[in-house]
Amino acid sequence: MATQFITQTKRTHTCGALRAADIGKEVVLFGWVQNRRDHGTLIFIDLRDREGLTQIVFDPDLGKEAHERAQQLRSEWVLGIRGKVRARGQQMSKKEGKVVSATNEKLSTGEIEVEVFEMEIFNKSETPPFEISEHVKAGEEMRFEHRYLDLRRRPIQQALITRSKMNALTRAYMVENGFLELETPFMGKYTPGGARNFLVPSRLNPGKFYALAESPQLYKQLFMVAGFERYFQIVKCFRDEALRLDRQPEFTQIDVEMSFVTQDDVFTIIEGLIKTLWKNVLGIDVPTPFRRMDFYESMSKYGNDKPDLRFGLEHVELTELVKKLGAEGGAAMLSDAVAQKNGIVKAMVVPAKYALSRKDTDELEVFVQGMGAKGLGRAKISETGEWTQAPLFKTASDALKNGILEATGAQKGDLILFQFGKESQVHTVMANLRVQIAKKLKLIPEYGSGGVWNFLWVVNPPLFEFDEEANQWAAAHHAFTRPHDDCVQYLETDPGKVKCHRYDVVLNGFEIGGGSIRLHSPEVQSRVFKALGIGDEEAREKFGFLLDALKYGAPPHGGIAIGMDRLAMLLTNAESLRDVIPFPKTQKGTDLMTGAPGDVDEKQLRELYVKSTAQPK
Ligand code: AMO
Repeated sequence: MATQFITQTKRTHTCGALRAADIGKEVVLFGWVQNRRDHGTLIFIDLRDREGLTQIVFDPDLGKEAHERAQQLRSEWVLGIRGKVRARGQQMSKKEGKVVSATNEKLSTGEIEVEVFEMEIFNKSETPPFEISEHVKAGEEMRFEHRYLDLRRRPIQQALITRSKMNALTRAYMVENGFLELETPFMGKYTPGGARNFLVPSRLNPGKFYALAESPQLYKQLFMVAGFERYFQIVKCFRDEALRLDRQPEFTQIDVEMSFVTQDDVFTIIEGLIKTLWKNVLGIDVPTPFRRMDFYESMSKYGNDKPDLRFGLEHVELTELVKKLGAEGGAAMLSDAVAQKNGIVKAMVVPAKYALSRKDTDELEVFVQGMGAKGLGRAKISETGEWTQAPLFKTASDALKNGILEATGAQKGDLILFQFGKESQVHTVMANLRVQIAKKLKLIPEYGSGGVWNFLWVVNPPLFEFDEEANQWAAAHHAFTRPHDDCVQYLETDPGKVKCHRYDVVLNGFEIGGGSIRLHSPEVQSRVFKALGIGDEEAREKFGFLLDALKYGAPPHGGIAIGMDRLAMLLTNAESLRDVIPFPKTQKGTDLMTGAPGDVDEKQLRELYVKSTAQPK
């Protein structure tokens, strides 16, 4: 029967299409039963497909047989119906004596309903383990186990429809701008540095492993060497790293590489792409060029390189002041902190108008302690100018207090918060504290843009960072980033001073993309390796193919990768990457629906020359 209905009867409209202008038309709709309401002899069903909901009515006077069968219908059954479109608000319930189908302004099809004279039940459904509704009450675990049902929910459908649109717009824009979509292998050679790789044992090459690509980085540079000039790819990347709301083990990049370009050329292309996406998806004009901020300014004012610029609460550095005053400052904990290697002091003013209570501040102290801080230094400036709630400053000199007031600009009634100690720790704590306070004060929503889109390029970061554990310089991003020409002289003498042509694009506190202009000079490349403690031989062993390629006339080139999942999450105001990825992994990297990662048997492992050392549970 079902096949006959589909072969003989073609769908005329989707469930989101019918309007008042269609009244009187005969239509065929296919979809799922969202809900059923019985009003005496009349039965109302909301029929759902990916485009929307349409109310359909079964009236025994119009189709006796269909009405009879409609009584068995339950949520999530799949139907095909033929009927006639009519205006809502006309039908009186004989039993209740009132209008039973008022117009619904919230629904795009809310002016009409379809009176059914023929129905085909394509399939029944078991009662779903949770209600398929907009605001689902079921926990994530239950939803992920039955993700195919979760994916029927409107917000997720809309997010994925948007994502599909983003892919199409990206391809069209890139192609229009002369980019070729070229593919790169997922299974490559393990190269050290960067994120931890997933490894795949090779059956044909006993004891050897492929690494799943953490990004197409090296291959896209080879495309430039090969002369393709402009490459892009919407590509999966794999990283075995600690997962967070904005990180998945497999995620998607819009990966881009260009020859004969400066940093500004890369920025222009990406700004144009973002403009296109925001205009076509949200109807919003994003102003370009985006603001640019020096890496050091970002670290100093916001404690990280992905500042959320939707609110103030900037950090103030007090290290120099405390150093200058030394013992004269009279706040021993602060002067001790700056006497340590890499010790700093930072403050942040919460203006009086925000009226943070003592209880609020105590809660913030627990929050920073969760990040390893010893406590939250504070000083409330009273109306008479005294420093209260400020044990840190009990013995502090006026010179220090006045210096702090001057540096921070704090006024009477304001609260000043402090962190001191190792630079990296102070920055992390203060950066997170800033965002936490902004959320508490509702300066920004818990998640989502709140209608404000603050794009930013963070530029000119250092090429190296000092790895305390290994006691040597390490590449802050990767070893193939081009140093600023005027910094090349410091490669041997003072690597910490070398800035480079690397950039991140940031939106509302999220790093949505990052890239660099690459090193194409074999001579400077070899000096960078030396600064990293990598000798020629070791470099050859690790990156030989790229170094060889760079010797055969590599053009100047550079590129970027945009995190597509993060972009989709922000564009759709979703709370987590998991809301914009059809089949995401949990925090522990598992797929609750399929049970991946799963067990394999001994024979399979033997074939791969692999033996597990995991203890059986
Ligand atoms: P990078 O490592 O900065 O650069 O990655 C680029 C962008 O990818 C996104 N991203 C992630 N998204 C979700 N889950 C993850 N685990 C994850 N890791 C990264 C971020 C990030 O900004 N090859 C270089 C690019 C280049 O230099 O051209 C690269 O991969 O949004």
